[in-house]
Amino acid sequence: MSQSLSQNIALIGFMAVGKSAVGRKLARRLKRRFVDLDKTIEKGAGAKIRDIFQAKGERYFRRLEKETLTCVLANDGQVISTGGGIVMDEDNLRLLQRRSLLICLRADLNTILRRAGSGKQRPLLVARDRVERIEELLRQREKYYAHAQISVDTSNLTVDEVVDKIIALAGRSQDHADP
Ligand code: S3P
Repeated sequence: MSQSLSQNIALIGFMAVGKSAVGRKLARRLKRRFVDLDKTIEKGAGAKIRDIFQAKGERYFRRLEKETLTCVLANDGQVISTGGGIVMDEDNLRLLQRRSLLICLRADLNTILRRAGSGKQRPLLVARDRVERIEELLRQREKYYAHAQISVDTSNLTVDEVVDKIIALAGRSQDHADP
């Protein structure tokens, strides 16, 4: 992954696929700065994501998300984990594509359900029928996630295994990239 030392690496993908855990370890392995976008939003707002959703609504959250992304992507050489819905905004997607190597993490439905747990941390998963909700969101988002250059199914892998796979695939994608 040498050529892209200055390029950002952004992890996209559905909720609970492992973006934050993988991003943190990937950054450590590559000796890069790690930015968890949702945590950065929370820090800036002085409130948890679920409280932002509750008090001000999703549109307000998306505005914060966009501002924070723009700010973070002004820098280079970072590993960035993003929120699952960030790519649904076309400006965000274009900016991510221009300023980073896009890696999509995936997981099957049962794994998403298990990893998401039953907590209310993720306001968009609070639903009468969680399975239906997840399937609906996955359907809506698939075409956006498909823009990633690299895609890794994390369902049966440990965080370290996912990191190994990303490093191998990213190296290979650069070997084939235009000089
Ligand atoms: C969201 C995903 C969350 C967070 C917010 C909205 C989404 O992040 O940004 O609750 O729209 O999928 P994670 O993907 O880290 O859960």
